[in-house]
Amino acid sequence: MTTATGAALRPVLTVEDLTVVYESEEPVTAVKNADLTLHRGEILGLAGESGCGKTTLAYAVNRLHRPPARIASGRITFHDKSGEDIDILALEDKELRAFRWNKLSMVFQGAMNALNPVTTVRAQLRDTLLAHRPGMSRKDVRERSEDVLRRVGVDTRRLTSYPHELSGGMRQRVMIAMAMLLEPQIMIMDEPTTALDVVVQRDILREIVRLRDELDFAVVFITHDLPLLLEISDRIAVMLAGEIVELESAQRLYRGAAHPYTRRLLGSFPSLSGSRGAFIRTGVDETAPPLPRPYAGQRPPTTEERA
Ligand SMILES: Nc1ncnc2c1ncn2[C@@H]1O[C@H](COP(=O)(O)OP(=O)(O)OP(=O)(O)O)[C@@H](O)[C@H]1O
Ligand SMILES: [Mg+2]
Repeated sequence: MTTATGAALRPVLTVEDLTVVYESEEPVTAVKNADLTLHRGEILGLAGESGCGKTTLAYAVNRLHRPPARIASGRITFHDKSGEDIDILALEDKELRAFRWNKLSMVFQGAMNALNPVTTVRAQLRDTLLAHRPGMSRKDVRERSEDVLRRVGVDTRRLTSYPHELSGGMRQRVMIAMAMLLEPQIMIMDEPTTALDVVVQRDILREIVRLRDELDFAVVFITHDLPLLLEISDRIAVMLAGEIVELESAQRLYRGAAHPYTRRLLGSFPSLSGSRGAFIRTGVDETAPPLPRPYAGQRPPTTEERA
């Protein structure tokens, strides 16, 4: 098996036996003994119904979990392209700040409303760049900011815009640009398109697949929408009540899921027909538009928490 670029499969992230507990009055084990390997350059879909632990898992991988959440067991290893293995759970605060955004970045659930309302797009991109590369020249900052915006299909004239001047789709594209800014090897996207209408959603998905093909980062794409994942993912992990109950290539899962829960999830989309990937290729919506799902999960972290 190879990635989109034909390279042999190599892991970029390994999660072993990860358990995350919310130590509230009635403790909730939101992630239970999860094992997961993400390969270089692959798109891994993470599916499962609301509350099954998808965001909790993503936060733990980023070390963004906050009390009452506690990692009760497990090991998370980042396999850097330099060959070095990084034990994410053992990173000191300073190392962690250097790690986030640089090696692994995240587009947060509900993040499209999390851009700073009083700063221009240019300033937000600049601040993120300079926080990590303080010595960067003004010219390089400008060029990098323009480059990432172009890559996500936003006109560079938008650099001077404030978030409220942008459509939801554009705001989400800016968030993806921000996540790409420091050329991470992994991007975790938590429901990046759920709040968008179907046409905009498909445009952005196509963009993500194209960027991955071009830049070869790995993507963990989180959503409730299993048919959507079948279109864009190389492999799909299905979570149920904190456990990863299935991890399979999208093609095999499309042909027949092993776990009854996955079959139920697939079966609950009767409009799922036609060849896998047809949608992304043609851009024609053959499936019914997904129902809007109110955001009820975790709040996105504040700017300080994300830094
Ligand atoms: N701060 C918290 N305190 C206690 N329990 C929590 C807290 N945050 C989340 N949980 C619980 O942990 C479980 C997993 O939540 P999580 O937000 O990770 O799910 P999710 O799969 O991302 O859901 P969604 O699809 O709605 O975003 C849920 O049962 C939720 O109620
Ligand atoms: Mg979530």
